[in-house]
Amino acid sequence: MSEKTIALVTGANKGIGYEIAAGLGARGWKVGVGARDDGRREAAVEKLRANGVDAFGVPLDVTDDAGVAAAARLIEEEHGRLDVLVNNAGVTGGMPQNPTEVSIDQMRVAVETNVFGVVRVINAMLPLLRRSASPRIVNMSSGVGSLARQTASDDPLAVGPISGAYSPTKTYLNAVTIQYAKELRDTNILINLGCPGFVATDLNGFRGVRTPEEGARIAISLATLPDDGPTGGYFEDAGLIPW
Ligand SMILES: NC(=O)c1ccc[n+]([C@@H]2O[C@H](COP(=O)([O-])OP(=O)(O)OC[C@H]3O[C@@H](n4cnc5c(N)ncnc54)[C@H](OP(=O)(O)O)[C@@H]3O)[C@@H](O)[C@H]2O)c1
Repeated sequence: MSEKTIALVTGANKGIGYEIAAGLGARGWKVGVGARDDGRREAAVEKLRANGVDAFGVPLDVTDDAGVAAAARLIEEEHGRLDVLVNNAGVTGGMPQNPTEVSIDQMRVAVETNVFGVVRVINAMLPLLRRSASPRIVNMSSGVGSLARQTASDDPLAVGPISGAYSPTKTYLNAVTIQYAKELRDTNILINLGCPGFVATDLNGFRGVRTPEEGARIAISLATLPDDGPTGGYFEDAGLIPW
């Protein structure tokens, strides 16, 4: 088995996920680039390798049961275990996002990817994570998933635009992550939620104000927690986010 720490980042072909992969790779880790499109995945792997990262491609559509199971088999066969899983892949579900106009199909895609996709990947990878000395799971959430922040102001736009499909998926993801932390409490697996801030990526038409490198910081920090680090937390760079 590899002496190197082995990580898998979902949705690592671009945006924040790519920078998480680059940041973990810069620590000398072996990094799996989880991506659903063959061309985009290979391009990202090549770019990471050109920058000195020990990257390998993992075909991965988080909405596909068989594909996720195949990804777990690939990692098992090639690496024997998984140390760190970063569930970064996410979608907004598209526009419009006003709850009076959003289609059920949009909501379904967002939940299927941002929530069920995370559950699917965690549960498929858990047997491999349990073989690690210090397993870590990072779920990429968002500040817009915080009900406390969403309701803290009378201004409807205080925490981002009205978001009938996307924001609730992050609240749901937060809730599910708490349940994982409870179940895994007596194991060495630390599972936490990270919020990258408002980052300029495809997800928001590059309107964000932070760079993808800055957005990747919180996930890298939660992926590299010491064994006595927190679990079941909801963090941004500045610290804990109110639920
Ligand atoms: N940008 C922000 O301001 C912001 C703020 C808070 C939270 N976040 C969260 O940060 C994460 C990364 O977002 P980003 O801003 O970097 O967005 P992005 O540039 O649009 O990247 C999203 C990534 O997810 C992948 N993906 C989508 N659906 C997938 C699926 N079914 N299976 C596998 N991969 C899939 C995309 O792959 P394709 O290239 O194949 O589409 C892409 O690699 C998301 O979870 C997002 O919700 C972002």
